[in-house]
Amino acid sequence: MSKYAEIYNHSLDDPQAFWGDVAKGLHWDKPWDQVLDESAQPSPRWFVGGQLNTCFNALDRHIDAGNGDRLALIYDSPVTDSKRSYTYTELRDEVARLAGALSAQGVSKGDRVIVYMPMIPEAAISMLACARIGAIHSVVFGGFAAKELATRIDDSKPKMVLSASCGIEPSRVVAYKPLLDEAIELSTHKPQSCIIKQRPQLAADMIDGRDLDWDQAMSDSAPAECVPVKATDPLYILYTSGTTGQPKGVVRDNGGHAAALLWSMKNIYNVEPGDVYWAASDVGWVVGHSYIVYGPLLAGCTTVIYEGKPVGTPDPGAFWRVISEYQVKVLFTAPTAFRAIKKEDPQGAYMSKYDLSCMQTLYLAGERCDPDTLHWAETMLEKPVIDHWWQTETGWAIAANPMGVEPMPVKAGSPTVAMVGYDVRILDEQGNEKPDGEMGDIVIKQPLPPSCLPTLWNNEARFVDSYLRAYSGYYLTGDAGYKDEDGYLWIMSRTDDVINVAGHRLSTGQMEEVLAGHADVAECAVIGVADALKGQLPLGLVVLKSGVDRPAEELGAELVKLVRNQIGPVAAFKHISIVKRLPKTRSGKILRGTMVKIADGTEWNMPATIDDPAILDEISTSLQQMGYGK
Ligand code: COA
Ligand code: AMP
Repeated sequence: MSKYAEIYNHSLDDPQAFWGDVAKGLHWDKPWDQVLDESAQPSPRWFVGGQLNTCFNALDRHIDAGNGDRLALIYDSPVTDSKRSYTYTELRDEVARLAGALSAQGVSKGDRVIVYMPMIPEAAISMLACARIGAIHSVVFGGFAAKELATRIDDSKPKMVLSASCGIEPSRVVAYKPLLDEAIELSTHKPQSCIIKQRPQLAADMIDGRDLDWDQAMSDSAPAECVPVKATDPLYILYTSGTTGQPKGVVRDNGGHAAALLWSMKNIYNVEPGDVYWAASDVGWVVGHSYIVYGPLLAGCTTVIYEGKPVGTPDPGAFWRVISEYQVKVLFTAPTAFRAIKKEDPQGAYMSKYDLSCMQTLYLAGERCDPDTLHWAETMLEKPVIDHWWQTETGWAIAANPMGVEPMPVKAGSPTVAMVGYDVRILDEQGNEKPDGEMGDIVIKQPLPPSCLPTLWNNEARFVDSYLRAYSGYYLTGDAGYKDEDGYLWIMSRTDDVINVAGHRLSTGQMEEVLAGHADVAECAVIGVADALKGQLPLGLVVLKSGVDRPAEELGAELVKLVRNQIGPVAAFKHISIVKRLPKTRSGKILRGTMVKIADGTEWNMPATIDDPAILDEISTSLQQMGYGK
């Protein structure tokens, strides 16, 4: 039996023993009574009765072990031309001071704090400071509009918000503070106070009595010690797209999360304490939570906070510069970043300027990795390129190549095999297991391993409906795919209205809600169409109310602006087709899947249940006029 199979089987046969051993690598203020409580509702819980502090495990534990002088965090910002690094002791001291400032504002265990920050060290410091005092952080990605931020404020009801005056996109300075002010205007719940990091690129206007200056708050603060919390207490809430305009508040616990991430650092990413680990993502996404902040620090590695893009800051050699400058051993990013680099530097001329001998492996996730991109990266880097599959809901890989256990042969297009604790099955609609090679719903048999969401914030009913209702005893991933004869998983598509744009998870249903809110729109459908750079892009098909006769360009621009203002630039919503009618089944369901196939130019069949086949011809013509379907 292979080493992987041995470990994997052990994790499923005896989860108590397996995860109990893993968790011994952490510092516990109180040991757990039970590794796994399978009877807990609505989900089994890990390390029940145990108490720990995630910030202590990420920072103080290493300092106490004599590694306080090791680099914890490197900040590299080509967009502001600045660099800075923190040792574990320096980072802990900053975190403890911010934690003190939060406590001084009345924030304590269980209170929520929203973090709305660009990619600056203060973002990680904010998250860790919350963890230090047992407050629950909820990071909101900077590319979301004020309304999205307001939705998250109303759902999580934060006592405080931590933010910055601005973020820097290559084409513009993004003024965060006015967006925050607008969000607080829009929200019903009002946070008590905000701490704002003023950046030299743009000063924010402060609101008297509510806003505090970051530097001032830090200099006035007395450092706070770590507060032990229950292993099952929430560490954070991270909102992610579902099928409606209301995002899902994924809850992450403290104990299971720390244990799973610790296991993943050694066994999936094959790094040791002191190695430099770089996830080129954003703290607003789950990759940023797990592998910019918590994972590398829990493992005693050095993490990199990179404020820039793979291309244009200043050129497609940006990633290679960072890797060689800081001796990065592992790079983790989304395939779209490599597609962007490949487009601008197909021959790898920029890559060849740098010594990349320090780099061991490239990991890709966040969207399906097309074989072309994988092969290009392999050829150029001459290093293993590992695709792995996971979700905001799980917080770490469901399927990966366990490089620290035993590297397995790479099959381009597959994220390799199920990771420990994940009993992944492929089911048909009746709940029967599909034979190898046949597509079906990808589900995970309960209990899910540590770190996976125990519920949705404020909404257990939605948690049960979204994930547990479809197949009794299984978690529904929302992805469709198959398992091959070697046990490799193939993740082919989503089964819901979620699309993936540049590795960012977005809801087409949410965009439809925004478009439907326009006075001239009778009905609409948003579909995700294939895009060579971003993987998918949203395309809106809009039917106007009768009597509306406006130039398509003018109306289209209005609708694009509406989505940008209400969801944010990250939606990348730029393409609209005004059509006479939408194709539907006889029961009135819009045939989005068929339209996607027409737009992508893949084979499609006339659905048997279609109400009026002529409409699909009309749609096909409209899409072809826009350059789709070829
Ligand atoms: N704050 C404000 N605006 C932001 C933002 C942020 N943090 N991040 C992105 N945006 C804006 C962009 O400026 C862009 O605006 P525009 O329409 O005015 O040009 C829009 O949101 C869309 O962003 P994106 O889809 O990321 O496109 P891009 O052209 O800026 O960059 C890539 C394309 C491929 C270079 C970039 O998406 C990338 O590096 N992706 C891979 C890494 C990654 O982040 N993965 C996430 C999960 S692992
Ligand atoms: P997010 O919650 O933003 O991480 O998005 C999760 C979704 O992205 C998954 O459910 C998949 O649809 C998709 N995804 C992530 N990684 C991969 C991968 N390696 N291969 C295929 N799809 C992926």
